[in-house]
Amino acid sequence: MHSSYFGRFFLPTLLLAIFAGIYLCQPVSFALEAEQGPLYVGSLACKDCHPHEYGNFVSYAKKSHSFQSIERLRKGLSSEEIEQCYSCHTTGYGKPGGFVSLEKTPHLKNAGCEVCHGPGGEHSRSPDTGSIKLKLHKEDCEECHISDRVNAFRFKPLIHGGAH
Ligand code: HEC
Ligand code: HEC
Ligand code: HEC
Ligand code: HEC
Repeated sequence: MHSSYFGRFFLPTLLLAIFAGIYLCQPVSFALEAEQGPLYVGSLACKDCHPHEYGNFVSYAKKSHSFQSIERLRKGLSSEEIEQCYSCHTTGYGKPGGFVSLEKTPHLKNAGCEVCHGPGGEHSRSPDTGSIKLKLHKEDCEECHISDRVNAFRFKPLIHGGAH
């Protein structure tokens, strides 16, 4: 009696719940985005449409593996101290849709494309030039790089430094 109930109803109900869940997740993230502005999606989401920039970035930019720098010094740091590293060494920490933790947001653990170009959620779904930041200024870098260093790499000619 019990097992036939299980076989006949439990599995279909479970599958229905899973599919409903998958379907519902999309509108939920749209709604969140409408409320908070574009969300961060991580560098991998840019790969298919911008393979050239992506390829150069992961091959040459230290940003693309900046979480490793935290890992390297992790021993001997308290968890509060480690959290202070996140604002520069990850993507969007403390901002809507940005890095939260290695467990929750592994796709944002490194400082990616979006630390310069801004959150790319909306742009990735309906790409055009208006939905993403192109022109960058010294101040965009100074959020993480102390201004002496920014001047030292002579911002203008080296604006592509650390990029692609
Ligand atoms: C589905 C494809 C697609 C995805 C995903 C995508 N882009 Fe784009 N991107 C485009 C297209 C198309 C353009 C417009 C190219 C043009 O008209 O010159 C563009 C333009 C840009 C520009 C130049 C904007 C300008 O004003 O000229 C930047 C910067 C950019 N993308 C960055 C990104 C980043 C960063 C990501 C990942 C977060 C990303 N893109 C994801 C398709 C995409
Ligand atoms: C969200 C923080 C953040 C922003 C914004 C940022 N950077 Fe960086 N950048 C980093 C971090 C972190 C590293 C070092 C990564 C490591 O080695 O772990 C780095 C590394 C670099 C390097 C070292 C060289 C290399 O091989 O990557 C250059 C050059 C650089 N960034 C240029 C820039 C420029 C130019 C801008 C502005 C257009 C900029 N960065 C904006 C965080 C940032
Ligand atoms: C205010 C932004 C900022 C914070 C906070 C920050 N970093 Fe960095 N870090 C950078 C930048 C920018 C660079 C690259 C410097 C350069 O090349 O000019 C860097 C470089 C490094 C490097 C050297 C990487 C290499 O290959 O030479 C290590 C290691 C590192 N950071 C670890 C940490 C750790 C651990 C923390 C937290 C305790 C931390 N950083 C906090 C911005 C920051
Ligand atoms: C350190 C900052 C930085 C990072 C990180 C970065 N970019 Fe850029 N990106 C730039 C700059 C600067 C330009 C040139 C802007 C201009 O023409 O004034 C640019 C231009 C672009 C363009 C326009 C095409 C072109 O070459 O003019 C695209 C597309 C683009 N980036 C995509 C990406 C993608 C995808 C990633 C990550 C894989 C990425 N960027 C990471 C700074 C950055």
